[in-house]
Amino acid sequence: MKKIIFCVLLALALFLSLASCNKSGDAVNSGDVDLDTECKTLVVYFTAAENSGVDAVSSASVVTVDGEAKGVSQAVAEMTAGETGADLFSIRTSTVYPANMGELIDYADKEQDDDVRPELTSSIDNLDDYATVFVGFPIWWYDLPQVMYSFFDEYDFSGKTIIPFTVHNGSRLSGTPAKIAELEPDATVIADGFTVSMQNAAKAGEDVAEWLHGLGF
Ligand SMILES: Cc1cc2nc3c(=O)[nH]c(=O)nc-3n(C[C@H](O)[C@H](O)[C@H](O)COP(=O)(O)O)c2cc1C
Repeated sequence: MKKIIFCVLLALALFLSLASCNKSGDAVNSGDVDLDTECKTLVVYFTAAENSGVDAVSSASVVTVDGEAKGVSQAVAEMTAGETGADLFSIRTSTVYPANMGELIDYADKEQDDDVRPELTSSIDNLDDYATVFVGFPIWWYDLPQVMYSFFDEYDFSGKTIIPFTVHNGSRLSGTPAKIAELEPDATVIADGFTVSMQNAAKAGEDVAEWLHGLGF
C-alpha cells in the first residue's frame, strides 16, 4: 500500500512539474516580454534638426518644449530619458539635410529610392552596457529614414530589447517595428512602440510616462 501511495505522489509531483514548465513556456511570447528595467537603458534618436547644419529654429522640423526649440524626435527622446533615467544618444550623419521642408522631402525621397546609407558620425562605444535600447525617429516616406538603416547596419542588437518610438504626421509607426525586427533578427523588438504626431509632441510628456509605466519602468 505504502508503495502505491509513494508511486501516486511521485506521478503527481512529475505532473505538477511538467504543468508548471508548460505554464512558464506559454507565458513567453512576443507580446509578453519581461523587460529588464533595472539595467542601464539607452535612448537613441535621430532628428532632422540636429543634422541640417542650422540651429533648430531654422530647421525644417522643430518643436518648442519649455521655451526651447528642438527636433520633434529629440523632444520625445528627452521625455523618455527623463522618465526612465536612461542615457541619451543622438544619431549624427555627415549628410547635411536641407533646412527647407519641401527640399528635405524631395531629398529624402531620392535617398530612399537610391537606398542610400548615410555615413554615421556619432558612435555608441559601450552598447554592451545596455540590455534595453529605445530607438526613436521620424517617419520619412512611410518608413525609417535611411540613416536608421545605416544605424542598424552598424550595430548588432542580438540579445537586446529594442523599444521603437516614432513621430509622424499621420503614418504613426508605419510598420517600422517589424522592419527593425527584420534588420535585427536576434533582438526582441517591442511591437507596440510609442508614436505621437508632430503637432502633439510638445505636450506628450504624460502619454510618454503612461506608456513607460505600462512597460514597467
Ligand atoms: C522627408 C520627410 C518625409 C516625411 N514622410 C512622412 C510620412 O511618410 N508619414 C508621416 O506621417 N509623416 C511624414 N513626415 C513628417 C515627419 O514624420 C514629422 O515632420 C516629424 O515630426 C519630424 O521629426 P523630426 O523633427 O524629429 O525630424 C515626413 C517628414 C519629412 C521631412
